[in-house]
Amino acid sequence: MTEEAHLHRLLLDRMTSTGSLRTEPWKRAAAAVPRHEFLRGGFFRRAHGSDFTAWHPVRRAEPGWLEGCYTDESLVTQIAGTIVPEDIRGRITREPTSSSTLPSLVLRMLEDLQVEDGHQVLEIGTGTGYSTALLCTRLGEDNVTSVEYDPDVAARARAALGHVGLYPTLVTGDGLLGHGEGAPYDRIIATCAVRTVPTQWVEQTRPGGLILTTIGGWLGASELARLTVHEDGTASGPLLGGGVNFMLARPHLPPPLGLLPDLGDGKERESTIGTEVLDDWTSRFVVQLAVPGAQRLTLERDGRTEDVLVDVETGSWAAVYQDGGRWLVRQGGPQPLWDTVEEQTGRWSGDGAPSLEKFTVTVAAEGQTIRW
Ligand SMILES: C[S@@+](CC[C@H](N)C(=O)[O-])C[C@H]1O[C@@H](n2cnc3c(N)ncnc32)[C@H](O)[C@@H]1O
Repeated sequence: MTEEAHLHRLLLDRMTSTGSLRTEPWKRAAAAVPRHEFLRGGFFRRAHGSDFTAWHPVRRAEPGWLEGCYTDESLVTQIAGTIVPEDIRGRITREPTSSSTLPSLVLRMLEDLQVEDGHQVLEIGTGTGYSTALLCTRLGEDNVTSVEYDPDVAARARAALGHVGLYPTLVTGDGLLGHGEGAPYDRIIATCAVRTVPTQWVEQTRPGGLILTTIGGWLGASELARLTVHEDGTASGPLLGGGVNFMLARPHLPPPLGLLPDLGDGKERESTIGTEVLDDWTSRFVVQLAVPGAQRLTLERDGRTEDVLVDVETGSWAAVYQDGGRWLVRQGGPQPLWDTVEEQTGRWSGDGAPSLEKFTVTVAAEGQTIRW
């Protein structure tokens, strides 16, 4: 057995034992698709010992490359929208913009997609092409369409898929618009997160079909949702749980913070809650639903740490800090953001603090609602 085959086998065994890989057709597909073929351009590893998140490149044929390809980890393949491992010597400290998702999550999502033979699938976020290859192997390349926003990423995925002999329909463009030409689809799967599920995805899925996507937002909380499309043109379904996190679809990324409002100039009062609601995964999701336009930053001011929420569009802001045993909040702008956060988290706690699996998403022409 080659080293590649050995490492691949270990990964398959691990994904099976942890329950990500559950059914025979997906086990066969996962065994047939070698992940290293989709990482020939190398990847970035997180560099330790830096205040900022820094990344260093691991190029093909460098020590650790092959092992890295078969670890159950997400591997960053592009940084800051253009930079690939070949471009860098040393470290870089910018945000990742494309990656190969950890295989156990890819397979868990493909299992959750509940495909059947002959299904037409639209994938949003081709990335390296690894998940596209799995879909092609399971369903046949004629049944798979994949959309990638970034032309360079799309070109590399096309080459990698061609290298292993797979030729699905690959589209370069904004996957939030779906791909009307191939509609209706039986399934839509997104491997980037969205703030709101696009109505185009609902329109392009046949009644009874499924949309599997991560719903995220600007406070960094997210969860996987599986929606069923109904005859009346709406879609609804539960969040699936598991703390699934993906990079946001590029058109859904937050706007720059710009010039900060004057954070000293606001009304101060005691807060009924502390910033733990922003740290816990579930309550952060609840806060994000309450103030979807808010972004968070942490500032040192007057010798104390303040957690600040800023809504760039409205100019509203709230700064929360601890003073001895109590929490204080100072707010400014047209909307008292923290009042909304207190009200929404209070209602959620009052209802017994349900877990995200108890939340339901509905998408209709009027927009998206998420309720517990
Ligand atoms: C986590 S990666 C995808 C991982 C991929 N499925 C794999 O197996 O390698 C997310 C990808 O979504 C792409 N993306 C972001 N916004 C998008 C959009 N609006 N439409 C299509 N692709 C998008 C990113 O460029 C990135 O390549």
